[in-house]
Amino acid sequence: MRRPIDAPGAIEFRRMRPEDLDRVVDIERGGFRHPWSRDLLARELGHAWSNILLAIERDAALQEQVLGYVVFWLVHDEVHILNIATAVEARRRGVGRALMLEAHASGKARGATVATLEVRRSNVPAIELYRSLGYRQVGVRPNYYQEEGEDAIVMLLEV
Ligand SMILES: CC(C)(COP(=O)(O)OP(=O)(O)OC[C@H]1O[C@@H](n2cnc3c(N)ncnc32)[C@H](O)[C@@H]1OP(=O)(O)O)[C@@H](O)C(=O)NCCC(=O)NCCS
Repeated sequence: MRRPIDAPGAIEFRRMRPEDLDRVVDIERGGFRHPWSRDLLARELGHAWSNILLAIERDAALQEQVLGYVVFWLVHDEVHILNIATAVEARRRGVGRALMLEAHASGKARGATVATLEVRRSNVPAIELYRSLGYRQVGVRPNYYQEEGEDAIVMLLEV
């Protein structure tokens, strides 16, 4: 059985680098019906204001395995979460929660007081993750996801 990531030393975080693009694109494609393209991810990587953190586990040979990532912007006192995904095979081990907590901590260390995000109304796993962290619904953006005409739920957490 794989270790839960709350085992000591089981998970590390680091900033994404250009050589991580292939793996991040794979995880992105496994996570979304409308995944971010490789170009968009590469552009995001080049934005000084964007933060892309990877969750890493080491295998028996101490090689890095990327388990998931979170993309966030720090705008004034707000951490805005743009994207988060965990590789399919690493889900329900606490990776998503750990990435969110790391994003909050990183923002807080630089003066953030709140975290915000938008999520599809139908995305139960993500909404449950955010609720479990204390996020509350503060609004709805009707038809925000235009391909399906789906609403976005706007959520906020004081960090
Ligand atoms: C949402 C997502 C990032 C969660 O990642 P994860 O690493 O599996 O989440 P965790 O293991 O940290 O789960 C933390 C909590 O979230 C909730 N949760 C996660 N997956 C869930 C699911 N499938 N159903 C219900 N609740 C779920 C639970 O409360 C869980 O705690 P528990 O396992 O103790 O019950 C992952 O499902 C994913 O990558 N989805 C596709 C991409 C996506 O939709 N991203 C969100 C965009 S807004």
